[in-house]
Amino acid sequence: MDHPNTVIVDHPLIRHKLTIMREATTPTSKFRQLLREISLLLAYEVLRDLECTTIEIRTPLETMLAPKLEGKKLCFVSILRAGNGLLDGMLDLVPSARVGHVGLYRDPTSLKPVEYYMKLPEHIEDRLCIAVDPMLATGNSAAAAVQRIKEAGAARIKFVCVLAAPEGIATFTAAHPDVPVYTAAIDRQLNHHGYILPGLGDAGDRMYGTR
Ligand code: URA
Repeated sequence: MDHPNTVIVDHPLIRHKLTIMREATTPTSKFRQLLREISLLLAYEVLRDLECTTIEIRTPLETMLAPKLEGKKLCFVSILRAGNGLLDGMLDLVPSARVGHVGLYRDPTSLKPVEYYMKLPEHIEDRLCIAVDPMLATGNSAAAAVQRIKEAGAARIKFVCVLAAPEGIATFTAAHPDVPVYTAAIDRQLNHHGYILPGLGDAGDRMYGTR
């Protein structure tokens, strides 16, 4: 199936790590470590078009004009709580990036996402925002989180996950056709509880050893 505006970051290292993450017997510490490693590899692809400025440096032999990242222009936004598992690897790559957090829960009556936490760095309108959540399942909370990031003023946003369901991609890209989705893999479908099949289970629980 064709998924417009979606990039599958397909690399043997990512495939291998994802297989181990999917296995039910993989322990919490290993799961977290693999998530961190995959996030670094995903960030490499997502940040491919990051702008550089040019600075003058001196090598041991002569001076030259050399490219340098404008890391401060970048903001990673974690969609709580599982998004935090993608932050560390990305910050290893771009330590000067800013970090925001968005927390949403589903109201049991209206079934609508309700914001319980939101903190973004200032001048968000000038930054490339990379919203991160390991699982794009129904797509509802990711779409709502990106909507809040847009309402805060962000104009350039990308969304990064590890696993996506076709249903989640459809919902998310319908709501935000201007926001490209980067994922390591697209799985078969959602089950009746909104879990991705075959998936890897509840990413937050597997990261933190809860449940
Ligand atoms: N969130 C998860 O952590 N896992 C899923 O399969 C779906 C949503």
